Amino acid sequence: MDLDMKTLCDPIGIEVNTQPFILIIFGGGGDLSKKKLLPALYNLFKLDKLNNDSYILSYGRKNRTQAEYRTLVKTSIESSFKEIEIDVEDSFLEKFNYVNGNSEKLEGIESINKYVCKFKDINKYQIIFYLATPPTLAKNILKLIQNLDLCDKPFKKKIIIEKPFGIDTVSAINLNDNLHKIFKEDEIYRIDHYLGKETVQNILFFRFGNSIFEPLWNRSFIDHIQITVAEDIGIGSRGNFYEKAGVLKDIIQNHMMQLIALVSMEPPTNFEADCIRDEKVKIFKNISSMSEEYMTENLVLGQYGPGKIKQKDIAGYRNEKNVDSNSNVGTFFSGKFHIDNWRWAGVPFYVRAGKRLNKKLTEIVITFKTPPLKLFGNTCRDILANELIFSIQPEEKISLSINMKYPGVDNYPHPVEMNFNYSKLDTISLTAYERLIVDCIKGDLTLFARQDGIEEMWKFMDPIVEYFNKINFKFPNYSAGDWGPKESKLLMKKDDRKWKI
Ligand code: BG6
Repeated sequence: MDLDMKTLCDPIGIEVNTQPFILIIFGGGGDLSKKKLLPALYNLFKLDKLNNDSYILSYGRKNRTQAEYRTLVKTSIESSFKEIEIDVEDSFLEKFNYVNGNSEKLEGIESINKYVCKFKDINKYQIIFYLATPPTLAKNILKLIQNLDLCDKPFKKKIIIEKPFGIDTVSAINLNDNLHKIFKEDEIYRIDHYLGKETVQNILFFRFGNSIFEPLWNRSFIDHIQITVAEDIGIGSRGNFYEKAGVLKDIIQNHMMQLIALVSMEPPTNFEADCIRDEKVKIFKNISSMSEEYMTENLVLGQYGPGKIKQKDIAGYRNEKNVDSNSNVGTFFSGKFHIDNWRWAGVPFYVRAGKRLNKKLTEIVITFKTPPLKLFGNTCRDILANELIFSIQPEEKISLSINMKYPGVDNYPHPVEMNFNYSKLDTISLTAYERLIVDCIKGDLTLFARQDGIEEMWKFMDPIVEYFNKINFKFPNYSAGDWGPKESKLLMKKDDRKWKI
């Protein structure tokens, strides 16, 4: 059964921002820029959502000419979109300039100053610094930014910084201190692109815009929650980064924690950035810390070996470029978490994330308790629990499974699904990066992480990282194309439950 979406009022669409900007990207030639940032900027430009009087300066280590950098941007756009409007692409490319330098040596300051000072009325622009770089470079880049004089004139400045924010609690606190030497908290946009995904935002709308679900959203009616962030891709050319991050710092400490918070937080008093972020921080503080004994029983770390995905042979993690051939880095994690508060006491949150799994799938499954009595006789022994599924990708949909009577003389239960599917909507929806860039330009911090939240997430994560660091794993322990190590499958079986997929 499908539910159509009828809007009560005309959606106003995405506002066009009128304020021009100068965007200075650090790491403009890196993987993230090529895959996400440059295509997002192009699409916003094509949709006419960016002020035309805006410019982009990219800073990178490689010695490239202007023309070479524009070719990189062009290649990135053309590998992201099937159809390109050449005129639009040409005008977009003209917005780019390139400066090379090594941030450790504070190189390039003069060139950046010179570029910015060429703008006559600099104070009409907001200057946005974008750190599309690994966390280890942040300190030097911030020092470099601090040393810019940018013509010594007043202008509005902001900074966008990519996750992971630091590599543990101490470094996250240091990073925040360094950021605050230059920027005020409301000028800092810490990106976790999961928060920009339409279906992720819909979690809050769904919960707090429908009075029928909220009374059930607690330990009395919910049996357990499963969150899966599965990828079929490997680490690509990011071996250097991934060897330091692994799945724990790449996905669990940020994307996974944000999903947990959105699904479990209390209603905010209003929909303003800080009210929502206050509620999320309370969840980060309340996720139960775990003893070593608990971790041994309830957490699983894995690393993929060779295997097959979609009939293609896949190399193991230890054979990837820039990966140690004896690496102990986890590419898969699953675990049972709990939240110590009145609403969630006793409700397990089973979380799982990994690379080179069977398919790409991000979803949150809320499993409700089964009815208290088996009223319908033997045929009904296996009546299924109601499930509410937020599918985040590849499909963007929300579905609710309910039990109906199958027509006939016997009491056969028949589960059916009520679905709301975003692909059926005739509207333009922005990708996560597009949405977050627009929000930053507009000055809306709602979908960005706040300092205290980041620190709380690390405080939860540090002991887990420490625990796994002490173990001498016999990796690999799952084959590419599988759903993780066998211990992960057993994790729910022990509780008489099973992973949805
Ligand atoms: C990034 C991680 O934050 O998220 C990547 O660094 C991961 O390793 C990516 O592949 C997944 O994003 P998405 O939007 O494809 O689920």
